[in-house]
Parts: sequence; structure tokens; C-alpha cells
Amino acid sequence: MKPFLIVLFSVLLVSCSTSTYDDIEEIQEENQGEVVTYQDVAFIFQNNCTACHSNPPQNGAPMPLTTYSEVKNAVQNRGLIDRISREEGAQGLMPLGGPRLPQQQIDLITQWNLDGLLEN
Ligand code: HEC
Repeated sequence: MKPFLIVLFSVLLVSCSTSTYDDIEEIQEENQGEVVTYQDVAFIFQNNCTACHSNPPQNGAPMPLTTYSEVKNAVQNRGLIDRISREEGAQGLMPLGGPRLPQQQIDLITQWNLDGLLEN
């Protein structure tokens, strides 16, 4: 093959395999439809709960919230979503002593529950 043909084919190959704007938009839309998993919410518990809900728990907290199964169990059996959803200043609101989590994070945890409390 003549060198200039090789160059031509390479250029064609590259231009065919490059993502178009439409492709990128499609990927973003797919991500929006994705379910919320523990991977998406774990940081909220790490940042706001494990000072007390560590393993072993501190400051009178009754259970750890450091792993997927511990957090899932607390949602199913210990009213975790109710506790984080109470009004600012309400008795029993978690994190204990406030402030309340940002509403966006409460919504994310609520959606994780609605999506079936998946790990991944
Ligand atoms: C400053 C310490 C502290 C922090 C931070 C904290 N908790 Fe607690 N948590 C406690 C204590 C103490 C209790 C037990 C008293 C009570 O039930 O209100 C408790 C109880 C709970 C309970 C009820 C457990 C049961 O079996 O009744 C849940 C659910 C809970 N916490 C979730 C959370 C979540 C989620 C976070 C983070 C968003 C959090 N906590 C942050 C101290 C804390």
C-alpha cells in the first residue's frame, strides 16, 4: 500500500471512532436513569455518622454504620430514614445534635431505599 493511502485510512478510522456530541448526550441520559446504590450514599454516612456510629460505637450510639450491611440493616430495622428526615431541632434527629443533612442527601438516601438498597 502507498504511504499516503495508509495515512488516509488512519484518518478515516479515527474520525469514525470518535464520539459525537449525540453519543455523549446519550450516555448522560442513561446515567440519570441509573439506580442509586450504596456506592453513591456511603460518603454521607462516613462524613456525618461514623464519629458516633463507628465500630465499636461511641457516645452512646447503639450500632455501627460503617459497612453496607450495617447501614442497610439500620434502614430496614432501625428507622434510619425517619431519623434523618425529622425537622431541624426535633428530638431524635440524626446526626445527633444537628445540623440536619442537606435535603439533597436525604433525598438520595430515600431514593437508594426506593431502588432496593443495592450494594453496587
Ligand atoms: C454525636 C453522635 C451521633 C452522630 C454524629 C449520629 N448519631 Fe445516630 N445515634 C446517636 C445516639 C446516642 C443514638 C441513641 C439515642 C437515640 O436513639 O436517639 C443514636 C441513634 C440512632 C438511630 C436509632 C437506632 C435505634 O435502634 O433506635 C439511628 C437510625 C441513627 N442514630 C442514625 C444515624 C445516622 C444516619 C447518622 C448520620 C446521618 C447519625 N445517626 C449520626 C448518636 C449519634
